[in-house]
Amino acid sequence: MIKDKNLKQAVLKVSVVLLMIVYSAVTKTAFAQSTDNDALIYRKIDLKIKQMTLEEKVGMIHANSSFTSAGVKRLNIPELVMSDGPHGVRLEHGRDWKTDNDNVNDSATYLPVGVCLASTWNPQLGYAYGSVLGSETNARGKDIILGPGINIIRTPLNGRNFEYQGEDPYLVSKMVVGYIKGVQDQGVAACVKHYLANNQEIDRGRINVLMSERALREIYLPGFKAAVKEGGVYSVMGAYNKFRGQFCTHNDYLVNKILKKEFGFKGILMSDWSAVHNTMEALWNGTDLEMGTFFSNNSYHKFFLADTVIALVRKGLVDEKLVDEKVRRILYVMYKTHKFDKRQPGALSTSQHFETARKVAEEGIVLLKNSNNILPLNKSAIKSIAVIGVNAVRHQSEGGGSSQVRTRYEITPLDGIRKLSSDAITVTYNSGYEIAKNAKASQSLIDSAVAAAKKADVAIIVGGWTHGYNNYAWSDNAYDAEGTDKPDMNMPFGQDELIEAVIKANPHTVVILMGGGAIDMMKWIDNTAAVIQAWYPGSEGGNALARILFGEVNPSGKLPMTFPKHLNESPAHVLGEYPGDSITEHYNDDIYVGYRYFDTYKVEPLFAFGHGLSYTTFSYSDMKVVAGSASATVYLTITNTGKMAGAETVQIYVKEDVSMLRRPEKELKGFQKIFLKPGENKRITITLNKEAFQYYNDIINQWVFEPGVFTIMAASSSRDIRAVKKVEIK
Ligand code: BGC
Repeated sequence: MIKDKNLKQAVLKVSVVLLMIVYSAVTKTAFAQSTDNDALIYRKIDLKIKQMTLEEKVGMIHANSSFTSAGVKRLNIPELVMSDGPHGVRLEHGRDWKTDNDNVNDSATYLPVGVCLASTWNPQLGYAYGSVLGSETNARGKDIILGPGINIIRTPLNGRNFEYQGEDPYLVSKMVVGYIKGVQDQGVAACVKHYLANNQEIDRGRINVLMSERALREIYLPGFKAAVKEGGVYSVMGAYNKFRGQFCTHNDYLVNKILKKEFGFKGILMSDWSAVHNTMEALWNGTDLEMGTFFSNNSYHKFFLADTVIALVRKGLVDEKLVDEKVRRILYVMYKTHKFDKRQPGALSTSQHFETARKVAEEGIVLLKNSNNILPLNKSAIKSIAVIGVNAVRHQSEGGGSSQVRTRYEITPLDGIRKLSSDAITVTYNSGYEIAKNAKASQSLIDSAVAAAKKADVAIIVGGWTHGYNNYAWSDNAYDAEGTDKPDMNMPFGQDELIEAVIKANPHTVVILMGGGAIDMMKWIDNTAAVIQAWYPGSEGGNALARILFGEVNPSGKLPMTFPKHLNESPAHVLGEYPGDSITEHYNDDIYVGYRYFDTYKVEPLFAFGHGLSYTTFSYSDMKVVAGSASATVYLTITNTGKMAGAETVQIYVKEDVSMLRRPEKELKGFQKIFLKPGENKRITITLNKEAFQYYNDIINQWVFEPGVFTIMAASSSRDIRAVKKVEIK
């Protein structure tokens, strides 16, 4: 026993430090992911495969319950366990949707949806977001999280736009890499989806998408390419639809030729759920794992990649090597993640995870309009706020289809506003409208909302889209939901009438819109002082919104898609076909997706791609562009010229002045988000490599770089160009 108090403390301190060192060494070894190089991994895999029976191999290439595929017990190969994705680990559905939910702790962090993440334009936040998901995937005992979703937002009507990351391939490519690395650094796999051209939900199970090679290369592929080549994603999910006549999941061109051969993808190409339609095609064209659900138990042997495959091999009609190749890929992912080591413990719903959710919401929520600086609200000057609208009180986490999340808590906008209003502010609530199938404006609900707005200093309407009529129903999908598209871009449930009446009653009205994207605001936008696009901002969304409303956070989100004024000005609906004739759909809009269309065809959008206001102002100065060899470097000084700290996302657009083939008016080729205190300035550098200047020439089927003069634009949005330089690049 040590008597001296100081000595005792010193010994204690040393012991604690030693313990920490030992603990971290132990955990590091225990949780270390395989550092074996691929050659060694493949040797181990081949040894395992040699010991496996055909039945065991085939067991591994198809589902054996709705979210698992079989392992081989005697060879210590565990089952592979998956979960949706993409903005939280999905609530537990057990084996074949049979679970005792009361006995499962599946309350995960509900992160802001994908389109909100993209609106942050902050790849580091993408990494933080992925880390939360990876950690919770571990905590829930899953191996693969079925996200990110990165289908290009081609039409505002797609029911799943909320899960995706915008209309621009460059932005998607930058955001997706952080997300994937964040997930996979936790020792679990991400699954990028839906490969490819699943840009609508209508007829997703059969529509045959036809697009030019140029559109494929320039618009629809880059995100997937970045996911594989830069993100090192371990799994990819094939889409439901067809592409050039063949189902995506077993599409020789997309899977074998591009994904596996050209991009060098080594991981698992799994099908979307029940997206396999043909055994031979799946065998030959690269499907590694057939997923789906059989609601009657033990019918999984009827899958396309199950008993039929065994019979075909036994009859000598198919070479077993085709099966081996699929098993090899599955085992490869198992080796590369934790499956043969000890799983990282992960954590569920920690305060740190919720903090990340809040951070993403705060940076992803977009301030669309702010006339006369009505925002931020001045807490000391305001005595009363009338909060109006169902989305102010609605929980969104469990809606939308497979992306549903059960969360420990979800702060609604009303909760957030109440929490942050000082006691001196009275906050009232009125629904103003009703969410129900075919619901129209209700005069009595509007009258009550108007009466409250009249009495209040400020009215805040929280409306927009919703996931479903019934909060949690899957079969009752509406608007932002899987399996369905929006019928039009109009505000549902009579919200136009409500907003028009409220802004008349109180000019100090802020409209907050939830949803996966553009909505028609033309009836009231000119007369509305402030509009905020909140997407579905996750568990901490209400807090994030309130902090933005009261100026504790300076908004910095920027739109990852163009908001058209009217649906019939959207390129898929003007140039292209949508939703096709239920059999075929021609993407005649080609590369003119989003702002590439609006800017080239000179159509005025309501809010441009890259638009998002701040409570401060930024100036752009001293732009310099130095040409390199098939490259250029842009230098620029950005100054915060206002009174509040804030962040600006500087966007660099490139235009080739004269080109062989027609090119868009401008294309995003670089961006940087910078945080500046009032009066502070920073000199930023953005490098543009050869890819920034190339286009895909589908006459010769090659990327081409044409030496010549390029216009380089530094911009605050695609329609707010702040500095321009022309440069000759050779
Ligand atoms: C969706 C996928 C999802 C899968 C599993 C499908 O209906 O399209 O995104 O990962 O179900 O739930």
